[in-house]
Amino acid sequence: MPPMMSTFFPPLILISLHCFTTSASDPDPVQDFCIPDPKYGSIRAADHLTILPCKNSSDATPDDFVFSGMKSAGNFSETGLAAIPVNPIIFPGINTLGMSFIRADLKAAGINPPHFHPRATEISYVVQGSVYSGFVDSSNRIFARTIEEGEVMVFPRGLVHFQMNVGDKPATIFGCFNSQNPGSQKIPAAIFGSGIDEMLLEKAFGLNPQQIGMMRRRFGPRVK
Ligand SMILES: *[C@@H]1O[C@H](CO)[C@@H](O)[C@H](O)[C@H]1NC(C)=O
Ligand SMILES: *[C@@H]1O[C@H](CO)[C@@H](O)[C@H](O)[C@H]1NC(C)=O
Repeated sequence: MPPMMSTFFPPLILISLHCFTTSASDPDPVQDFCIPDPKYGSIRAADHLTILPCKNSSDATPDDFVFSGMKSAGNFSETGLAAIPVNPIIFPGINTLGMSFIRADLKAAGINPPHFHPRATEISYVVQGSVYSGFVDSSNRIFARTIEEGEVMVFPRGLVHFQMNVGDKPATIFGCFNSQNPGSQKIPAAIFGSGIDEMLLEKAFGLNPQQIGMMRRRFGPRVK
């Protein structure tokens, strides 16, 4: 018995560790659903992981579980991207359910700049259009190709990814996250818009002060 145990236990331990790390995500709900009770205040951007008291589930209605705010595209940014992130702030019905989603529209040649979600894997479904999509893994290997209407690409949690409309018509993408608060960090703004010491940036990127200044103006806090 003891020899067999020593043979079998290490794989078991590895499997259980693996399961533990891959299931580490939002907390498990302890009830069917939890519509935040408006009398305790609304969920704000800074704290939408805060577990607010649920309203009495007897008061829930079908409308609490329906979101109608993404029938059309949002407002387009300078890069030709319009994103409507749907999290418990604007859709209280998904509070505590461990997921959220996004509608993203790209004008022809529009881009979704390199960014990552620290707390979620994303699946990205191209509803309409032709979208060059990809991510870079932690060894800087790129996985990218054009995704056509009806196809899905997955962006693993925490990895830098990006999209560009390569068709001649607008593209619409539906993205889904396995966290109600995936977070989104855009690489250009994180590097050049956050106030990192200028000399450090010059050395890191081999740029001169004028070039750093240009990047800072472009990606500074005023630009979303
Ligand atoms: C929830 O509402 C039901 C029906 O109105 C009521 O019977 C119940 O006591 C309420 N529960 C709480 C915890 O207030
Ligand atoms: C688009 O911008 C307008 C004006 O600023 C704003 O009222 C509206 O809520 C925005 N739409 C979305 C989906 O963010």
